[in-house]
Amino acid sequence: MRIIVQNAKCQGHARCAAHAPHIFKLDDAGYILAGNIEVAEGEELTASRGARSCPERALKLDRQ
Ligand code: F3S
Repeated sequence: MRIIVQNAKCQGHARCAAHAPHIFKLDDAGYILAGNIEVAEGEELTASRGARSCPERALKLDRQ
């Protein structure tokens, strides 16, 4: 599974990182880092909860 990060939509709410700081890394200003996220096996549930928690819908799930 992969998370597609749409940086232009991120407003720095940091809810994603509150769910899973090891998956959703933020920059010093509190915005999600650029680049899609490859989700490790066993982390799918945590990652999808974090992605769905974004009020800006900046994080899209891509289940290959
Ligand atoms: Fe940004 Fe959404 Fe996370 S606005 S910091 S991607 S909760």
